Amino acid sequence: MSFYDEVGGHETFVRLVAAFYRGVATDEVLRPMYPDADLGPAEERLLMFLEQYWGGPTTYGERRGHPRLRMRHAAFHVDPAARDRWLLHMRAAVDELQLPPLHEATLWDYLQRAAHAMVNTFEPSGIGPAAGGRDGASLPVTTRPPHEPTA
Ligand code: HEM
Repeated sequence: MSFYDEVGGHETFVRLVAAFYRGVATDEVLRPMYPDADLGPAEERLLMFLEQYWGGPTTYGERRGHPRLRMRHAAFHVDPAARDRWLLHMRAAVDELQLPPLHEATLWDYLQRAAHAMVNTFEPSGIGPAAGGRDGASLPVTTRPPHEPTA
């Protein structure tokens, strides 16, 4: 029996991501990072990914291919503040599930490690690789190039 089945299968993961995205929808740091006006498709992708990861249906792979999550997050400004907010909403979502302690600890441990691994910048937003959550190349240059005299 997979972890997916043990914790209640599809219904449990639907509840998890629904609660998580309710938090994201109200978050002033995270919400602007999501490119789509509708959070539904993002919720669906996270749902499919987590279900597959824990031994459920492999729909994520069939539709999206290899997860390559670090790469897929490279376009977004995932600094420690964003990570902490992501974890805050995920913690609330995990709490709502009221899983048995061992299952809860297993799930939470993974989510924390994954979130720490997703951090891709320590720069303030506007400077990092993906300032503003979009393609950094399209941003206005706000700093003086090093070869230019400062006076
Ligand atoms: C640490 C803070 C994180 C932030 C700020 C963040 C933010 C984002 C954003 C803005 C997107 C694009 C939304 C979309 O259109 O799908 C995204 C996609 C995604 N994220 Fe995260 N994320 C974080 C951590 C994680 C973690 C820890 C996981 C896995 C456990 C994860 C799994 C995913 C998946 C599966 C997608 C969709 C990838 C695809 O395109 O197939 N994210 N994330």
